[in-house]
Amino acid sequence: MTKGRFITFEGGDGSGKTTQLQLTVTWLKSQGKDVLQTFEPGDTPLGKEIRRLLLSGEYTPVPASELLLFLADRAQHVEQVIKPALAAGKWVICDRYTDSTLAYQLAGRKLEATRILGDMLVWAEQGLTPNKTIWLDLPVEDAAKRMASREAEGEVANRLDHEKMAFHKAVYQAFSGIQKNASQRVKRIDARRDIAQVQSDIQVVLKSL
Ligand code: TYD
Repeated sequence: MTKGRFITFEGGDGSGKTTQLQLTVTWLKSQGKDVLQTFEPGDTPLGKEIRRLLLSGEYTPVPASELLLFLADRAQHVEQVIKPALAAGKWVICDRYTDSTLAYQLAGRKLEATRILGDMLVWAEQGLTPNKTIWLDLPVEDAAKRMASREAEGEVANRLDHEKMAFHKAVYQAFSGIQKNASQRVKRIDARRDIAQVQSDIQVVLKSL
């Protein structure tokens, strides 16, 4: 049914994900691919509002609300943006997706991974699993250093960036576990190395598609 390719980028804050995603999009376009770059949360008109509710810091959703808002954003995004682009044969490159929900909301917020929650995640994404997921692996301590220097340069951190170290550690452990359980789909890339080396590894992974 889907003609295009669906690639997601995951990783903790400060892992260089944005830079690598941009470089990957530029490279794919240079290879003649029709690319759609998108992100979660917030890349639909409704999603933009949901993003503000989730990340501005104006509100403190309880874990269940936080999860449901991320899923609402995803349902809208999959239906209105991702599925039509895939049907048109595009390569959809998405900054974060369901693995982030597993890591931040289930592991980070310590929500029990019941059958119902698992089913809800699949329901919100309409069963649309990425063809490949690039996990930029940066240990929590390195990530914290990078985030601190960015904040010193004036970058504004979001509500979740401000969570405690234990939260970020749980998120990291979750990504690591997801990668091990789905090692065909999720490729771990060591994000401690320089930009060009990381990008070169990503290109090797995507060439397999
Ligand atoms: P964002 O500012 O888009 O940047 P980055 O991905 O570089 O951190 O932040 C999105 C935030 O939302 C990020 O802290 C991770 C979080 N998030 C979740 O907690 N659950 C989710 O399902 C998604 C998609 C994102």
